[in-house]
Amino acid sequence: VFDSGLGGLTAVRALDALLPGEELVFFGDTARLPYGTRSHGTIRKYLRQDIAFLRTFDIKMLVVACGTASTACLPALCAEYPFPLLGVVEPSAAAAAAATRNKRVGLLATLATVASGVYETTVNAIDPDVTVIPQACPLLVPLVENGRGQKGDAVAEIIVREYLQPLIEAEADTLILGCTHYPLLSGLIRDILGDGVTLIDSGEAVAQAAAALNSDLKTQASEFAPKAPKRRYFVSDYPEGYALNAALFLGRPLDGPLQKVDIEGYA
Ligand code: DGL
Repeated sequence: VFDSGLGGLTAVRALDALLPGEELVFFGDTARLPYGTRSHGTIRKYLRQDIAFLRTFDIKMLVVACGTASTACLPALCAEYPFPLLGVVEPSAAAAAAATRNKRVGLLATLATVASGVYETTVNAIDPDVTVIPQACPLLVPLVENGRGQKGDAVAEIIVREYLQPLIEAEADTLILGCTHYPLLSGLIRDILGDGVTLIDSGEAVAQAAAALNSDLKTQASEFAPKAPKRRYFVSDYPEGYALNAALFLGRPLDGPLQKVDIEGYA
């Protein structure tokens, strides 16, 4: 599982329940975060290095649990690898198209994701009558990476409220959390929007797609696999409090070793 930082751990949290028997390697490119403010060319270069590292583990699939990398690089990069690369866009777009009743879907995402226009294309390929209302939120990843954004956080609330206002005015009844960091803000978002808006968690959506693909591939861990399969966590830099913040994303403490990797060494 890959993410630019902590966000992809929301997908790991969902995978805990969906694929409890599988070994998992997580890499968060904390040294180069955020990806969302970078050009697509830079993000593609970074993602190739990230994959070069993760494939050293003989993986059967890669979950790109980063909205920004998914929208900037997939599906173009998929053809370069012998294993499937699963991004967040298709599963989130499908869930949103199925959930909306008034055909107005809001999208909260990074600058790079919004600039790609990929969500509009993907949702409209499923249902051309759905309007996607995109909102770039460059301040949210730094907030979340710093452990901010719980309910009652006044600073986070002002920022989130400002980003949500255009989507409230557009009467979106469904909201894609198009960056895997944002589920950490869902308490705040829910307080502002109320229960009438369906939230689509892109980490959860890609985890479900991974579970479905795993059963299609018929490569589930066998019944003889160890009861507590190995979990390994890698980052390209140790930000202060990483393990503490990681536990917030996972809803539990880290359950495997956390190591630093020199990602620039992979190509
Ligand atoms: N979790 C990443 C995403 O889904 C964070 C983006 C960033 O690094 O800016 O987009």
